[in-house]
Amino acid sequence: MPGTPPPARRTVLRAAAAVVPVAGLGITACSSGGSDGGSNRSAPTAPTDLGASDEVKVGASKLYTDENVVVSRISDDEYKAFSTICTHAKCPINKLEGHKLICPCHGSQFDATNGKVLHDPAVTPLAELPVKVEDGKIVAG
Ligand code: FES
Repeated sequence: MPGTPPPARRTVLRAAAAVVPVAGLGITACSSGGSDGGSNRSAPTAPTDLGASDEVKVGASKLYTDENVVVSRISDDEYKAFSTICTHAKCPINKLEGHKLICPCHGSQFDATNGKVLHDPAVTPLAELPVKVEDGKIVAG
C-alpha cells in the first residue's frame, strides 16, 4: 500500500512464530496417521480370534486389516501369520495381491507366506506371529 511503512522486523518475527506451531502439527499428523488415516498401528500382542479356519484355503493368504495380520495356509494344518505393520515406517499394510503384500505408504512389498521383503524401501521382514487353530477358528498373536 502506498504510504504504508513496511512492517517492523519484530512484527514479522511474531507472525513467523505464530505459524511454526501449526506447521509442526501438520508434520505430527502426517507422521502418525499414515496414508490410510487408520489409527491402529500394531498387530495383536495377545491371542486374537480371526475367524473360521476354512476362510483361508490351502495355498492362499488372507489379510485381516482390522487386526493388522496376514495368515497364509501352507498346508491342511499348517498356517503362518505375520504382522502387517510395515517394517519401513510402520504403516498398516492394506493390500494383498495373491501372496504379495503392498504397503500404501512407500510401496514396500512383502511375501505373505514367509514375511520376506520383495521390494524396498523396507529391508526388514515382517514380524512372525504365533498362530493356531482352536475350535475351527484361527487364533493369532
Ligand atoms: S511404511 Fe511401508 S513402505 Fe514405508
